[in-house]
Amino acid sequence: MSKDKTILRALAGETLPTPPIWMMRQAGRYLPEYKATRAQAGDFLSLCYNPELAAEVTFQPIRRYGFDAAILFADILLIPQALGADLWFVTGEGPRLSTITTQAELDALKPVEAIHDTLSPIYETVKILSNGLPAETTLIGFAGAPWTVATYMIAGRGTPDQGPAHALKAENRPVFDALMARITDATVLYLSEQIKAGAEVVKLFDSWAGSLQDSDFKKYSLEPMQRITAALKALHPDVPVIAFPRGAGERYVGAHAAIGADCVAIDDGVSAEWAAANVQTAGCVQGNLKSSHMVTGGDALVSETRRTVQALSQGPHIFNLGHGITPDADPENVQLMIDTVRGT
Ligand code: CP3
Repeated sequence: MSKDKTILRALAGETLPTPPIWMMRQAGRYLPEYKATRAQAGDFLSLCYNPELAAEVTFQPIRRYGFDAAILFADILLIPQALGADLWFVTGEGPRLSTITTQAELDALKPVEAIHDTLSPIYETVKILSNGLPAETTLIGFAGAPWTVATYMIAGRGTPDQGPAHALKAENRPVFDALMARITDATVLYLSEQIKAGAEVVKLFDSWAGSLQDSDFKKYSLEPMQRITAALKALHPDVPVIAFPRGAGERYVGAHAAIGADCVAIDDGVSAEWAAANVQTAGCVQGNLKSSHMVTGGDALVSETRRTVQALSQGPHIFNLGHGITPDADPENVQLMIDTVRGT
């Protein structure tokens, strides 16, 4: 592993003159070449499980833009599928899964060690990427954090307020806790295999952390991510972890220490100036340009990009969006963002 890579330097706590940059969902439907490869694969899940094509779509934004990191092309919902849930995607609507809300449904899941039967093609993708990426590009592996994955497993789909997961947590705590534990254990095995296959950094996406109130935030967002991070660090002490408790707001303060993460990714619900004063003091921060600028472009994109870079320039920073780029984004706006960050 080369410590010259700018992402690894930022994750080690270095303040760089120009922040390294990558983008959530950088391989995605805003790119015509992604749509072409996805059509070749047939559907989204076939693309995820086809190592050659999944690697191809991961390479595409690196070739086009020269991002400093590539993120493995896969999905956070492959773990539920590997544990035995049915998973499918409805075009224009999103994911659907068979639900887990009872002890009997929980008991019917596969043991965590069985996930590799389903997920081995993903490790193959990581190997192809590890061998094929440019020397300066960092390879990021990822998984969903247990709370976010549980919200999909319990509801069987995305939900605006994660109501079904909150309801199970309130009404059947033993089943909820056992599901969280199962996901946590599976995630450690999954990420450890990604690292063995060549992932240099791993990221935990807790997309729905923001809906956890009061002590639940610590108990069900921070603590499961802390357990995963500690288990991975015991196995792979040199591999940095990025945690993304999206929507945490003021609760981003102290998140580095609570999770044991090398970097905390922030969404655009907090300002870069606030994050510099309150979060970056504890370590590397990743974020947080509003992804809508990739649709609207123009002077606002340039000035907001500059403001974000400037605000976080006094500490370790990885430039990124506050959430994933959307399919209606203009690829030229991505180039404009990169040029603005790099000052070229
Ligand atoms: O960021 C990357 O480029 C790496 C690949 C990646 C995908 N999903 C590919 C994807 C990553 C890191 C994810 C994470 C993910 N998946 C999250 C957490 C991050 C977030 O967005 O909050 C979540 C909640 C999911 C679950 C998921 N997958 C949903 C809700 C959807 C449907 C919504 C949509 O955008 O259509 C997906 C599908 C998905 N995952 C797509 C991609 C590129 C679009 C699928 C397509 O090609 O039709």
